[in-house]
Amino acid sequence: MDDNSFFVTTPIYYVNDSPHIGHAYTSIACDVIARFNRLNGKKTMFLTGTDEHGLKIEQAAKKKAMNTKEFVDEMSLDFKKLTKTLNLTNDFFVRTTENFHKKASQHIWKILKKNDEIYLDKYKGWYSVSDEAYFNDDEITTDKKTKKKFAPSGNEVQWVEEESYFFKLSKWQDKLLDFYKKNPNFIGPDSRKNEVVSFVKNGLNDLSISRTTFSWGVEVPDDKKHIMYVWLDALINYLSAIGYPDKKYKEFWPANLHIVGKDIIRFHAIYWPAFLLAAEIEPPKRIFAHGWWTNEGKKISKSLGNVIDPNEIIKKYGLDTLRFFLLKEVPFGNDGDFSKESLQRRINNDLANDLGNLVQRVLTIVNKNLNGQLNKIKEIRDSDKKLYEYPKEILKTIELSYENQEFHKVIESIWKLISEANKYVDENAPWKLLKKDKERAGDVLNILVLIIAKIAIFLSPIMPNTSENILNKIGLSTKKLTMKHINNNSFLNTTFKIKKPEIIFQKIE
Ligand code: MSP
Repeated sequence: MDDNSFFVTTPIYYVNDSPHIGHAYTSIACDVIARFNRLNGKKTMFLTGTDEHGLKIEQAAKKKAMNTKEFVDEMSLDFKKLTKTLNLTNDFFVRTTENFHKKASQHIWKILKKNDEIYLDKYKGWYSVSDEAYFNDDEITTDKKTKKKFAPSGNEVQWVEEESYFFKLSKWQDKLLDFYKKNPNFIGPDSRKNEVVSFVKNGLNDLSISRTTFSWGVEVPDDKKHIMYVWLDALINYLSAIGYPDKKYKEFWPANLHIVGKDIIRFHAIYWPAFLLAAEIEPPKRIFAHGWWTNEGKKISKSLGNVIDPNEIIKKYGLDTLRFFLLKEVPFGNDGDFSKESLQRRINNDLANDLGNLVQRVLTIVNKNLNGQLNKIKEIRDSDKKLYEYPKEILKTIELSYENQEFHKVIESIWKLISEANKYVDENAPWKLLKKDKERAGDVLNILVLIIAKIAIFLSPIMPNTSENILNKIGLSTKKLTMKHINNNSFLNTTFKIKKPEIIFQKIE
């Protein structure tokens, strides 16, 4: 893969249920990263899709009395629709039930077999269908009353005894620890890295990677009785979707970033690099695990009936508001609470007061007083320099924050610029200047319009529609602008006439 390529992925979503705010969160974060990298001139590949095999899906189809294939086709469509609703710029949507994916999975299996990484034995132990994961005895708790057994996730486990192929995970313990050491950025945030490293240090058991008691999965090559463990099949999506085993997959491999929820870090940071190293394929460069959302302080769950439907939030508050809120409200990596009150606070303060007000008042004055006309700036005074140079100053910080998936810091930097611009409006009072010194007033306003355009460029990965809307008002478009324009002061179209602007964010009482 060349240095100018960038590959980011979401987890592929289980189709046993409809999409909710947790899926929207991961997808939006990846979209922002993809958009930023494109804006920065990288050849970007953004992948999302659906995870359609395994017992959990088979059971969900049965519950609806549907044919499993028809069920996954229908449910997968909901996730595909969500990519449109969220304005995602994914370049591909992978489904694990597609033939190319099955073939890629079987190809990897054959390599693992050839490399003597797989053996046949019998699995005896606990399995949670909801997590699609195996658990050791010491991870299981028992409810005293019902005697039911539970995994650390709170999901019930069942005892499984069946013939199974095993992957020799135990032999990868030291090699994984060595890999983490040599690649200190492999897992983020640090708290998760520590968790993974200590788990691996405690020792790894060989991993059961096939099942025989149901059939909804990818067939194991040369042994039709077995289907591949759903997580092995699922992880391989990151390769199958970019053309593996054809050499063309190398255009985007190793992936730069897999963004996942904290619940599935173990699969991505332990099993996945072990499978890849065993198959002699380079592991991805980074895995970042984000936190979980609660709803008004309560765990989100179907049984509590408090699942947040992103479609409803978007209908009520708008898509860009949701995108902004999810990334601003909590540092990426931490858990967050979704509450109407904090959402409204963000709309009223950050969006309507700070951003909306700046755009509105500056464009209104230009429209009313300068005949809507922008001009070349004639003189930059010392007192202008702070604001004039500010975008350039925050550019590096923003790039670095993106590299570390610190979206809240990206937003903080942009809002510092917005606040500088608002301060500049107050200090220079262009409405007064217009009466005394029209030329200076013109310069002040043109500087402000230039800064607003740069704010819109900075904002475009996070709030693409808002950004396009602001830029259109000043005769520009995100389609023609890149991050390079942050260091360029001559891209304003001075023949464009600014029309009377409408309010971009309504306050909510
Ligand atoms: N199919 C697996 C992933 C396979 S990737 C090779 C899976 N799917 S999932 O649909 O259950 O979850 C997808 C993502 O949604 C996970 O990263 C999970 O953390 C995230 N979320 C589900 N509920 C969530 C919240 N309440 N809050 C934030 N994200 C959560 O796991």
